[in-house]
Amino acid sequence: MLYNIVTYGCQMNVHESEKIAGMLENMGYEPTQKREDADIIVFNTCAIREGAEDRALGNIGALKKMKKANPNKIIAVAGCMSQQKNVAEYLFKTFPFIDIIVGTHNLYTLPTLIKNKLEVKKRILSNVEKGEICENVPVTRTSGKNAWVNIMYGCNNFCSYCIVPYVRGREMSRAKADIIAECKKVIADGYNQITLLGQNVNSYFDEKAISNFADLLKSICSLDGDFKLTFMTSHPKDISDEVIDILATEPKILKELHLPVQSGSTKILKAMNRKYTREHYIEIIDKLKSKIPNIRLTTDIIVGFPGETEQDFEDTVSLVEYVKYDGIFAFMYSKRSGTVAESMPDQVPEDVKNFRVNKILDLEKQIQKDKGN
Ligand code: 5AD
Ligand code: SF4
Repeated sequence: MLYNIVTYGCQMNVHESEKIAGMLENMGYEPTQKREDADIIVFNTCAIREGAEDRALGNIGALKKMKKANPNKIIAVAGCMSQQKNVAEYLFKTFPFIDIIVGTHNLYTLPTLIKNKLEVKKRILSNVEKGEICENVPVTRTSGKNAWVNIMYGCNNFCSYCIVPYVRGREMSRAKADIIAECKKVIADGYNQITLLGQNVNSYFDEKAISNFADLLKSICSLDGDFKLTFMTSHPKDISDEVIDILATEPKILKELHLPVQSGSTKILKAMNRKYTREHYIEIIDKLKSKIPNIRLTTDIIVGFPGETEQDFEDTVSLVEYVKYDGIFAFMYSKRSGTVAESMPDQVPEDVKNFRVNKILDLEKQIQKDKGN
């Protein structure tokens, strides 16, 4: 019995696909790269931008033929599209060849859903509104020597453009003891890098252990073994001086930080509900560079947020020129249903967004060239 997983989106999804692989292998499935040979195909979807959804929809649509050729093939859809009730229902109706739809909150029920499907031969749509943390889900790690380790799930920030808080729900931190146990295991298994994952790692808090992110970092660094530690994603409003100091001084922590700025204009940052100004962000960058001169900084930028004028965009350009990032993920703003920004006036035309995103990407190339990277 063979499985094939198609993953869209962020590292959280990459890691969740490793959990899907782990659960399937526990059931006796083995991996295959050839989708047409697979007995089960799982699409792990992303909803962050319209483009990600469209790509998944196109590729799911293309499965119709495969299902016709082999009606016993199981087709499952997981991830952020499945988690949203209305989108899941749309998928279920539009693609009658989908056998299983499972949300992110109840992903760990996938093996039961597959067994049900095999026994009862009925299609299943299963998602729940509120999740709980599920420990001990098997994992088949597929990222070389790097082990992804979740420390928290969900997000409370409600950036006005972002669908994540609506899909992934409120922040939930894993128990420190469970994280430490997982770290010890991956170190013993020979992984030489641990990447801590969360939508907003800086707001990690385990109430029982009274452990915040700084404490967690210190505890992981104190584990025996030859490994490096890194983490994503950090929110500029939450990164503390203590975390910056640990990043600067702890030899096990990689000297790199992904610190999404989104925009260089304080006006746009306010409209995005980011809760920091251009000046505050620059202050953090200055602090990081002075304490860690060789730090590798990366960021996310959204161009064409509603109301972004030429001047606002130039503020982003000048911030990029100032920071001289080592890597930039630049995105055109994509309207997401249910978010606050959806109904904001002055939506920016596509051709302007396109021009601006290319300008950022060109600038990024130039910076790398100048740095000799
Ligand atoms: N449109 C464009 N980019 C977005 N991001 C999040 N929501 C949107 C959206 N609606 C980007 C942000 C975030 C990254 C993961 O995706 O830059 O940091
Ligand atoms: Fe989305 Fe903002 Fe939360 Fe990041 S911090 S997941 S951009 S709402």
